[in-house]
Amino acid sequence: MFDMMPVQASEWAGRVDWINKVITDISVICTLGITAVMIYVAYKYRHREGNRQGAYITHNATVETVWTVIPSIICLAVFAYGFVVYHEMRTPPANPIEISVEGYKWGWRFAYANGKRTAGELTVPIGKPVRLVMTSADVIHSFFIPAMRVKEDLYKANYSYIWFTPTKLGEFHIFCTEYCGTSHSAMTGKLKVVSPEAFEDFLLDRKDADAPQLPPAEIGKSLFSGNGCTACHSIDGSSGQGPTLKGLFSGKEHKMADGSSVVVDENYVRESIVNPRAKIVEGYPAALMPSFAHLKEEELNALIAYLKEL
Ligand code: CUA
Repeated sequence: MFDMMPVQASEWAGRVDWINKVITDISVICTLGITAVMIYVAYKYRHREGNRQGAYITHNATVETVWTVIPSIICLAVFAYGFVVYHEMRTPPANPIEISVEGYKWGWRFAYANGKRTAGELTVPIGKPVRLVMTSADVIHSFFIPAMRVKEDLYKANYSYIWFTPTKLGEFHIFCTEYCGTSHSAMTGKLKVVSPEAFEDFLLDRKDADAPQLPPAEIGKSLFSGNGCTACHSIDGSSGQGPTLKGLFSGKEHKMADGSSVVVDENYVRESIVNPRAKIVEGYPAALMPSFAHLKEEELNALIAYLKEL
């Protein structure tokens, strides 16, 4: 009925817009229909000289059942559709292109797997699933790309993510949608969707001066041996003082000493580095590993990037 949505540039867009349109259309039809009947009835049965008093009706079970059941079915159908799409939005495919996003007062920094960095401008290839692993340097921000129909909050010392598959070449707006201080309204960015070849060229073009030139995973590798992690954690599957880190991010469940189980993600690894006693893998002593809370954000990111490759 109305077309007020921004351009559709990801695989989510059509589906998000469809349910939005269904809900809007139902609301408009009901509002107009009910209002029209009210006006008509108020006019038709207005007070006139000589009118008899109307019958006193307390209730009508059939009508009440119908107006309860039909809206309930509509609500449940909307919920079911939303649930299915939301579930897919929270389930990234295997091997997406991963890009780190850091929000800060007031801008965005992006880091790619080969060590390339950009600020304010995010470049992704068309047609490939992209997963953004996001964190904040300070307060809560919210990363929003209207054309992709994705939005998620960013927190300090925590990782959140969104993923999408771009379907349209071009440049799109990025906004912060969580009030984060004086220049919140200026906390914008640009998303560039380019061809896969142009994306390769973009990654190889390393004029981004101020940053470490090495890929995060390589920095992580030297941190891993430099901090003595290798003394307890093997990377070849053999068991040491601590559990092996081979295949850590394979998506399988790891049993914990308290009986719970964990599917490894960035937040679990971060917690295990900073606060090793929070979760203990079944069969390993609780008090062996010291905390590495002194590592910088960037070093934690690099370690995680390295562990993902094992
Ligand atoms: Cu960051 Cu608003």
